[in-house]
Amino acid sequence: MDLYEYQARDLFEKHGVPVLAGIVAETPAEVRAAAEKLGGVTVVKAQVKTGGRGKAGGVKVAKTPADAEEAAKAILGLDIKGHIVKKVMVAAGADIKEEYYFSVLLDRANRSYLSLASYEGGMEIEVLAEERPEALARIEVDPVAGIDLAKATEIATAAKFPAEIIEKVAPVIVKLYGVFAAEDATLVEVNPLVLTGAGDIVALDGKVTLDENAGFRHPEHEALEDKDAADPLEAKAKAHDLNYVKLDGEVGIIGNGAGLVMSTLDVVAYAGERHGGVKPANFLDIGGGASAEVMAAGLDVILGDPQVKSVFVNVFGGITACDAVADGIVKALEILGDSATKPLVVRLDGNRVDEGHAILRGARHPLVTLAETMDDGADKAAALAHTA
Ligand SMILES: Nc1ncnc2c1ncn2[C@@H]1O[C@H](COP(=O)(O)OP(=O)(O)OP(=O)(O)O)[C@@H](O)[C@H]1O
Ligand SMILES: [Mg+2]
Repeated sequence: MDLYEYQARDLFEKHGVPVLAGIVAETPAEVRAAAEKLGGVTVVKAQVKTGGRGKAGGVKVAKTPADAEEAAKAILGLDIKGHIVKKVMVAAGADIKEEYYFSVLLDRANRSYLSLASYEGGMEIEVLAEERPEALARIEVDPVAGIDLAKATEIATAAKFPAEIIEKVAPVIVKLYGVFAAEDATLVEVNPLVLTGAGDIVALDGKVTLDENAGFRHPEHEALEDKDAADPLEAKAKAHDLNYVKLDGEVGIIGNGAGLVMSTLDVVAYAGERHGGVKPANFLDIGGGASAEVMAAGLDVILGDPQVKSVFVNVFGGITACDAVADGIVKALEILGDSATKPLVVRLDGNRVDEGHAILRGARHPLVTLAETMDDGADKAAALAHTA
């Protein structure tokens, strides 16, 4: 789960990383009040989960509360790479002397943690990595040892910080690692980490990604979830504990097991090329126990997507046998009643496949078509989506 900058700021503060005061606001009037409260120069910053806010006009310096209000009018509602700004953070203005870069992240390829740091911040890090790779230090971090003061000093030295700055920046790096470890994050990035005119190191921007697999250790993280921004279908699927990802095609997909669902997406995309270019509408893995309730919940989510024109159910019976899945489909259609209006192509194979077919044939549901193979099912579902 990616956090907003203001949420990252709060986590930083909780773990002793130096940050400036910041107040979240949703209207120009609230922004004005926040700027009055903070006093002095403020910076109004768009809160969207994407980078490049500054360049898109989403970060504006305001000398007075009236300026802040004007800045808010320009920023609220702005579209930044497809993200509409609904909230801003009014931050105290910093007197920036130098800008640096620091991050620590999960390095999946090396089964380790990696820290990236640069004395030359203020530039987009992707650009820096491309144009001046020597200016970006990459230091592996042992997940067991973590980052203590000695390791932080090693990182800052590799990033070419001068000695007098290393002394100031290393303790902040230790605190930032503290956020990463204590909150079970997979990314903590600060761009820019700044040196102020007064000689202090401050994190002026923060990007944090939390590991949702560790959510059970952090019940408080649930409050950070952005329920309004989530896709409503994805939110509904989540409420039923379904693994659902919305895509933008027309053929709804239900399968059991992530691998089977992934290959179903492929065969449907391939079949779609013969049928007007239709594509898979989603990924949905109903997992091992394909009970009627789970099948009904899955179908309900998929049929709720107005873009869906047909549905392909592709199940391989294992521990949950095909007859149980077929029962699940029949009962799901009963539960959904009139709200099920789109054609369903069902391919069953594996344990008790004949019994499963017999149940579906016996039910004679007008929306259900049986397919013998996965390719056949993909073809039928794509054709139905194309002609619908
Ligand atoms: N509180 C602040 N006081 C003074 N200047 C600031 C403050 N916050 C940000 N800035 C300036 O604005 C620039 C952009 O801010 P920030 O890094 O938060 O946004 P961004 O980098 O454009 O967005 P993103 O990090 O999402 O790409 C910073 O590099 C810094 O120079
Ligand atoms: Mg930034």
